[in-house]
Amino acid sequence: MFNLILFGPPGSGKGTQSEKIMEKFGLMHLSTGNLLRQEIADKTPLGMEAKNIMERGHLVPDEVVIGMIDSCIEKHADAKGFLFDGFPRTIAQALALDNLLTVKKAAICKVLALDVDEDELVKRLMKRGETSGRSDDTNEDVIRKRFSVYKAETEPVAEHYNDQGKLEKIKGIGSVDEIFSSLTTCIETEMAAQQSVSAK
Ligand code: AP5
Repeated sequence: MFNLILFGPPGSGKGTQSEKIMEKFGLMHLSTGNLLRQEIADKTPLGMEAKNIMERGHLVPDEVVIGMIDSCIEKHADAKGFLFDGFPRTIAQALALDNLLTVKKAAICKVLALDVDEDELVKRLMKRGETSGRSDDTNEDVIRKRFSVYKAETEPVAEHYNDQGKLEKIKGIGSVDEIFSSLTTCIETEMAAQQSVSAK
């Protein structure tokens, strides 16, 4: 299994690049943000609870998102690999993911972290907020809150994977295609490395 985490702050391009990676490499895309927005659209009890939290720019409780990821991994047990987008976002989520994959005799192969400065992120999210209908994009205070939560809770996740030698930073400014090309190079290099290990 080839499992990848696309990492980065809100607005860094995780969703945009995930679509392209999924298409090119055939990985199963798991975005906790998309899963939660689907719960909200379906007006489920989980969705109703998450809506209020997301509108304030806070994180949904770990046990909720870990449960969602667990059942998605089970549901797609035959996938050739997963592309995690927006997950894990806390150390507790990262440890839970590592355990879930260990049970499947798998692991995270690479964490690709998109590097974009905060002014650019605010610009992108405010622009998307004009048309997306995402309530967490229309208010600059909520956007800034998402960044502060990211710094406090999510950045340590990068350290966790850096300690495992799996983190690679990618310049996240430029055209979508330029960034995709950098990501593709890293993914292909890592896939080749994995193949040569398994061939031995
Ligand atoms: P989530 O849906 O994960 O949102 P996010 O991390 O805030 O990220 P975004 O979707 O806003 O940005 P992105 O990096 O995917 O960038 P995108 O490609 O969309 O989470 C939303 C909320 O759900 C969280 O705040 C939390 O409450 C909850 N949640 C989700 N997961 C959770 C978890 N694991 N634990 C707890 N709570 C969780 O691009 C952004 C914009 O920029 C787009 O308009 C795009 O067109 C544009 N763009 C993309 N690339 C470029 C480029 N190269 N140049 C210019 N513009 C670009």
